[in-house]
Amino acid sequence: MSFDAKKKHSGRHFCVVGVQWGDEGKGKIVDALSSDFDAVVRYQGGANAGHTVLIGEEEFIFHLVPSGILEGKTCVIGNGVVMDVATFIEELDELKARGLDYEDRIWISERAHLVMPYHRVLDRLQDVGSNGARIGTTLRGIGPCYTDKVARRGIRAGDLVDFARFEALLHENVEHFNRVFRDLHGEKELEVAPILAEYREHADRLRDRICNITDLLWEIDGRGEGILFEGAQGALLDIDLGSYPYVTSSNTSFLGLGPGTGFSPRAVGTVAGITKAYTTRVGEGPFPTELDDDLGEELRRAGSEFGATTGRPRRCGWLDLFALRYAIRFGDIDTLVITKLDVLDGFEKLRIGVGYEGIGDIQGGGGSFPADLERELKPIYIDMPGWTEPTANCRKYEDLPIEAQKYLEFIVNATQCPISILSVGKERSQMIRLDPWLGVSGGLPELPVETKIS
Ligand code: IMP
Repeated sequence: MSFDAKKKHSGRHFCVVGVQWGDEGKGKIVDALSSDFDAVVRYQGGANAGHTVLIGEEEFIFHLVPSGILEGKTCVIGNGVVMDVATFIEELDELKARGLDYEDRIWISERAHLVMPYHRVLDRLQDVGSNGARIGTTLRGIGPCYTDKVARRGIRAGDLVDFARFEALLHENVEHFNRVFRDLHGEKELEVAPILAEYREHADRLRDRICNITDLLWEIDGRGEGILFEGAQGALLDIDLGSYPYVTSSNTSFLGLGPGTGFSPRAVGTVAGITKAYTTRVGEGPFPTELDDDLGEELRRAGSEFGATTGRPRRCGWLDLFALRYAIRFGDIDTLVITKLDVLDGFEKLRIGVGYEGIGDIQGGGGSFPADLERELKPIYIDMPGWTEPTANCRKYEDLPIEAQKYLEFIVNATQCPISILSVGKERSQMIRLDPWLGVSGGLPELPVETKIS
């Protein structure tokens, strides 16, 4: 597929990010696109992510290894990632056991911070945000690890190479956190010796894989090769611009690419925002278009909406274009990729959230996604007819039921953002690449005021 025809920027590199609350199906899209690129890069997040790829009967779930590994590409873990080395090694071992021994193609930034055993303990003890709000984290130690990074006491992958330094830092940190465990939480203290022994083994295994990935990426760029950047989670979980405090602790949007790699975002030609044809969320936090009823249950069942990392049932609801438009704007999205369109097959009536009462709607063009999320957000919906024919076997846009085409056209016009790919099933082959992209065909759609439902 040619992405060149419509792109706004000139760079040859490409970035895939989620534009909802994560779990949009990025793994499958990255896997499908990676054959067009020479390297695949993760730039933020950690083992809280779960990217699922299905090839034939084989299912792969990655938490840290970039999904591009299945194509045997050079895979890079950026400095913005927080590395749980034990999980990472487990993933490498599993790939090896399944005949994919690509360890020598993986590079880890010497500047990536390590998620340590005390971070996981802290995550369990401190799963609270402002006002004591429970966040419902993945308990993978992500927030505490990023906290240590900003507090300038973190341990980085490069410290594994200089193991004496690792040892000194570990002693300091365990001493610090044991005081916290003991004095604030009455929690069992950690012992340094077993952690040290475990990480000595990890260091031996990974030493040769740790390098300056900024130089590596510029070298790849210098050779005229293409890089695919892969965001984890989704834009609305972004620490700065997402639904704070119900967010993760990194810049999950395209905005994280620069600081997470040391590579220029201006060299990235296309940013693709992945969204499901509806919305899901795991963990706590606002979800204005959530369906807390039988329909929500039906979506959960039809879409197998259970977390790839924690197995938690995902909250399900209608597509929220007001939130999506916000994520497209701040995330500099050039094109949308719509996944799980097939999950909507058979719904008699579909709803799309187009605004929030008292705040704004997409037609007005105004109204911002609120920063203050303590108040209840009441969505404004429009209704659209659903379709009964299955879409899973459609391979061309014209094959889709006319109602599905109308649904997609509405999304494009409401967000003023073209669609380039549709995914209609879990399989690698269940995808429709639109060439040319489905472009904006009109102004903002008229909202039929009489169908507004509060
Ligand atoms: P943490 O990233 O584990 O600190 O969790 C913070 C919030 O982000 C929680 O609501 C998690 O459920 C959510 N979250 C983290 N990673 C993912 C993901 O990969 N998909 C969806 N939600 C996620």
